[in-house]
This record gives sequence, structure tokens and C-alpha cells, in this order.
Amino acid sequence: MVPTTQQARAASAPSTDDAFDVVVTRPVLGREVARAAAALLSDAERQRASRFLFDRDRDRFIVGRARLRQLLAARLGTRPESVELVYGAHGKPALARRFADSDLRFNVSHCDDVTLYAFSCGREIGVDVEAVRVLGDADDIAGRFFSHRENQAYRALERRDRPLGFFQCWTRKEAFIKALGDGLSYPLDRFDVSLAPGEPAEILRVEAMPGACCGWRMESLSPAPGFVAAVVIGDRE
Ligand SMILES: CC(C)(COP(=O)(O)OP(=O)(O)OC[C@H]1O[C@@H](n2cnc3c(N)ncnc32)[C@H](O)[C@@H]1OP(=O)(O)O)[C@@H](O)C(=O)NCCC(=O)NCCS
Repeated sequence: MVPTTQQARAASAPSTDDAFDVVVTRPVLGREVARAAAALLSDAERQRASRFLFDRDRDRFIVGRARLRQLLAARLGTRPESVELVYGAHGKPALARRFADSDLRFNVSHCDDVTLYAFSCGREIGVDVEAVRVLGDADDIAGRFFSHRENQAYRALERRDRPLGFFQCWTRKEAFIKALGDGLSYPLDRFDVSLAPGEPAEILRVEAMPGACCGWRMESLSPAPGFVAAVVIGDRE
């Protein structure tokens, strides 16, 4: 069993949304833990693990993937080793067709020792977590990756609010493209998200459509001190 799991809570207000749940883990890594966890992985996953250059990255992948298998297995009523995953065109993992009846969807995000696992029934879901930190080139990154409207909102923030605003924007954009499954093939200027500290997490626009009718919803989470996260989930089953 991979240790230390807690349930995430919504950042500003408790979530009234029972359409998804998020599990936060901060596993204690080590060779012994990773060796035990590796027994739950598929051959392909063990091969992927063997390609990591650094032991710590390898152990983090093994333990994180084993935990994903345990969490999926508990929801499917099967054994972790029996869970079969497939990958979308841009690498998004999903359950294999033989689990289609469960309609279980999931997504995963890691940052440092924090991993978030988001689950929903019948609705596509994306999650992203980041540590809030000061980046020397944050303004340049915002200029390159944020949309015009997001950039204006970011530059209007007080200096002291920028690190949080930056990572709120980053995680919200990532969660959206991870829900779509398209990775960075989906242009980041094609949609706007809210980012200002204290304002609700929202998709403001997707292409020409106002966020409120775009078919996706967003929630912000504080999964651990110093970290921000966002979840995006499809509106309808
Ligand atoms: C591929 C991508 C999902 C990587 O995201 P990331 O932030 O580097 O990493 P995360 O830890 O949040 O997510 C990785 C997990 O997402 C999942 N994932 C992989 N490809 C995915 C895809 N196309 N869609 C959704 N989820 C995906 C996997 O479960 C992966 O974990 P695993 O490798 O342990 O299985 C993608 O969004 C990306 O390359 N982003 C680059 C960052 C960027 O420029 N963002 C701009 C924001 S303004």
C-alpha cells in the first residue's frame, strides 16, 4: 500500500459538486516502497520506469502509478494489477474499453512530492497542480503563453499577488487542456480563464463562446500549503 492520502478541499468555499472527487497524495519515496509498488504495474509501465535517468524520478513514477491503479481498482471493484490503461492521441491515459460500463474517467497531476488524482463518472476531467513560487521570468512566460485577456488581468495585479495569479492561471489553463486531452496542440490563446486572487475560478471564454455556455466547469483547490490546483470537468454526461 502506498502511504499518505488525504481528500482535497476546495480553496475558497467547500465544493457542492459531487460530480468529481480529488485524492491528494504525498507519498514517502524509497527503494523498498517503490519495489513493492512495482509489483502492481504492467510490463509496459515497468519498462517506462526503467527509462528514467534518476532514481527519484523513477521511484516517483512507480509509486504514483501504483497508487493510481489502487484508486481505480477500488472504484472498479477489481485488483490494481487487473486495471488496463490506454492512451489518447496526445497521451491522456484512460481506462481500456472493457471497463467502459463503469464510465469512470480520471486525470493525474504531479508537482514536487504532491500528486492529485481526479475522478468522475461519465464526464471528461482534467487536473493540474503547481507549487506557488516566484519565477524570475514569470512576466515573459505570461506574455508568451497566456491569452491577451489573461495577460491584461495578470499585469493589473499588485506585484505581491503575481506569483499566485500566475500559477492560478497556469493550473487553470493546464486543467482545461488536460480535460480536452489535446495537450499543447490546443492553442492556449483560444480560451481565457480567471486568475486574480480572491475571484472565482472560471472559464471566461472558449473561442467565440462565453465560458458559461462552453460545456465545461472549473474549480480551484488548495491541495497542500503552498500549492494551487484546478479541476475542469464536462458539464453533461
Ligand atoms: C502533457 C501535459 C499533460 C503535461 O502536463 P504537466 O503539467 O507537465 O504534468 P502533470 O504532472 O500536470 O501531468 C502529467 C500527467 O498527465 C496525464 N497526461 C499525459 N498526457 C495527457 C494529455 N494529453 N491530456 C491529459 N492528461 C495527460 C498523465 O497521467 C501524466 O502523468 P503520468 O505521466 O504519471 O501518467 C501537457 O499539458 C503539457 O505538455 N503541458 C506543458 C506545460 C505548458 O506549457 N503549459 C502551459 C500553461 S499556460
